[in-house]
Amino acid sequence: MAIALRGVRKTYKSDHGPVEAVAGVSFDVADGEFVSLLGPSGCGKSTLLMMLAGLEAPSAGHLAVGGQPVAGPRRDAGLVFQDATLLPWLSARENVLFPIRMMRLREEAYRERADRLLATVGLRDFASRRPAQLSGGMRQRVALCRALIHDPAFLLMDEPFSALDAITRDEMGLVLLDLWERSQEPGRRKTGVFITHSIREALLLSDRVLVMGRRPSVLTADVPVPFPRPRAPGVQDTPEFTAIVARLRGMIEHNLRDAA
Ligand SMILES: Nc1ncnc2c1ncn2[C@@H]1O[C@H](COP(=O)(O)OP(=O)(O)OP(=O)(O)O)[C@@H](O)[C@H]1O
Ligand SMILES: [Mg+2]
Repeated sequence: MAIALRGVRKTYKSDHGPVEAVAGVSFDVADGEFVSLLGPSGCGKSTLLMMLAGLEAPSAGHLAVGGQPVAGPRRDAGLVFQDATLLPWLSARENVLFPIRMMRLREEAYRERADRLLATVGLRDFASRRPAQLSGGMRQRVALCRALIHDPAFLLMDEPFSALDAITRDEMGLVLLDLWERSQEPGRRKTGVFITHSIREALLLSDRVLVMGRRPSVLTADVPVPFPRPRAPGVQDTPEFTAIVARLRGMIEHNLRDAA
């Protein structure tokens, strides 16, 4: 199993007393699988991802990534957050290469890969631009390339497109779908965990969608996505797609009603 969580809990300390963010979550992600976490704001999704990334420690339970307990930040994971968090004084290419510098690897060995990744996401002509000269969607594409530069086995994404307008967001979904499907060749398969508020985005990209309830979070459903890969954008217009969207929306509304 690429990723395994067993009874994972997280309670934060705060000035107003303890905040229980995650209340016992267990799930597995198979090697090469792309799983989305769908849940209301504040339910503990980011907390879960931070624990998977080794940036927060669980209060109880076990997390394993690549067969090993998560003990801290790991090299074989690429992270993408809601904000691109690029370094403003570096060019797009230099930002993509930044993790290589941090890992003290030879930058020259990765320069070609950086340019190839930038070309894949439509930024061939923008490699020398600084973040301030790029649009929000372009910056997020750079962040995606940065997460992929060292060819990590795990890609962990926390609402990477939620700050974008609807059209750019749809476009980014297709960029990620394409990148993902290309990275699934034997020997370089990636495993992905993707957090989103968008049911359609989750369905388009994932092999499985996990639905979370209100804080403190527990999983309330584990829904397999039946559409074969490679997926064309048109899959979103099929009656089957619309039916699963409605089913997932029903589950989420049910969770909210239960909490009220
Ligand atoms: N460092 C922290 N200290 C105390 N409480 C925290 C901390 N980080 C998060 N929380 C609380 O834990 C709960 C879950 O937060 P989290 O960010 O994981 O939610 P989320 O599902 O990612 O929400 P959103 O969809 O809005 O991003 C919230 O109630 C939040 O206030
Ligand atoms: Mg969050």
